[in-house]
Amino acid sequence: MKPTVDRSPGRPPAFSYREIRKGLLRRRSVGSTLECDDISLERLAERFGTPLYVYSASTIRERMRTFQHAFRKVPHTVCYSVKANSSLGILRMLAGIGCGFDVVSGGELERVLRVDRRAGKKVVFSGVGKTAEEMQAALQAGVLLFNVESEAELWRLAECAARTRERARIALRVNPDVPANTHPYISTGLHQHKFGIPIGEARKLYARASGTKYLRVEGVSVHIGSQITDVQPFALAMERVADLVRVLHGDGHRIQYVDAGGGLGIAYEDQEEVGFGEQVADYAAALLRPLRGLKVHLLLEPGRAIVGPAGALLTRVLYRKTNGPKKFLVVDAAMNDLVRPSLYAAYHEIIPVRLDAKSAPPETVDIVGPICETGDFFARGRELPVTDEGDLLAILDAGAYGMVLTSNYNTRLRPAEVLVDGRSAKLIRRRETMDDLLRTESQLR
Ligand code: LLP
Repeated sequence: MKPTVDRSPGRPPAFSYREIRKGLLRRRSVGSTLECDDISLERLAERFGTPLYVYSASTIRERMRTFQHAFRKVPHTVCYSVKANSSLGILRMLAGIGCGFDVVSGGELERVLRVDRRAGKKVVFSGVGKTAEEMQAALQAGVLLFNVESEAELWRLAECAARTRERARIALRVNPDVPANTHPYISTGLHQHKFGIPIGEARKLYARASGTKYLRVEGVSVHIGSQITDVQPFALAMERVADLVRVLHGDGHRIQYVDAGGGLGIAYEDQEEVGFGEQVADYAAALLRPLRGLKVHLLLEPGRAIVGPAGALLTRVLYRKTNGPKKFLVVDAAMNDLVRPSLYAAYHEIIPVRLDAKSAPPETVDIVGPICETGDFFARGRELPVTDEGDLLAILDAGAYGMVLTSNYNTRLRPAEVLVDGRSAKLIRRRETMDDLLRTESQLR
């Protein structure tokens, strides 16, 4: 008998509850348990331990395809932003469905090349502080485009390209001075931010770049920030970019690429659910309208929108404790495993892995980690069904900027990662060991 799957309302399909039935003919419902695709998170926790990152491969693929589909009417390449989740298992899967990559360091480039040596041709290289060594490696890999962020960087790149006798295809990343209504730490498109070249100064620089033998002016790029849920700022930035492209065409530059960056946000809080298809369609319309009539190849750099909702951080409750009227759940994951709540005051939905049929009234708790900082929390004043020591919790929407931002603070070992695909679960990163961690140190005895 096929068990009933109760897709929890408003949640993406990556994680959903399955009803557990007991008794004669399995008539009595005793609760439900959370699954990723077709695999029980309880089983994964037993097999791989906690804290554990769990990703749904089918969700990542589906979201990537939805993204690609939304732009099907124009020539485009979706360059997945590696910084959101750079695990090789995930990069390999994305390379397999034809996507390109946005990298911001030699390290990220190396990850992409390890997954697929030929993928360099589909890489855009962004970032405000590329070193000469990183430029050299990117030239060797034959990257599609360098997104250049300053005049000084442009001349450094020209030197590197001349040395290797490879022409560097470049776009200038322009700063359009558009507010993005997101957390100040991840807003990038205002003139006071360190990113990009003021859009008003770009024309002059394009002229100078095009006179340089080893630079080939090919594109304009923009990125205004991350976790942006309103498409209006994207439209506004793209209008400014489109105006610039027309001016540059008029000046005789062959601008073939417009790189729209990333930044499309996800619904961390259980809001009115808009389907991802609809959301990306709106985003595509906002970007494409200003570009109408311009014959360009569009590059897109989504990160969070592809992997965010596909991942959860699985953690076990170590202790319940009370300090006066306050109740705490101390869990085995901490800010070193997922820093977003501590760093950006970010909200992550947290749900129990096992839901009991007899529903006790929920209680209000702080969910905190074992690290010696008050800032080490996942949620404060959160309503949760009564949870006991030993129970499992899933911190949702942790697929993006989770594992990549882990640290070893308090000499904690980094968590393992599992990629679930239908009925299969593969370990794509084993749990770090004490030997891994100490390998680079010496005691100077
Ligand atoms: N392209 C560029 C040039 C970027 O700087 C970024 C993100 C992206 C693409 C991808 O943006 P996405 O589609 O993922 O929003 N750690 C923060 C987010 C930092 C984003 C940095 N840049 C967080 O956890 O919210």
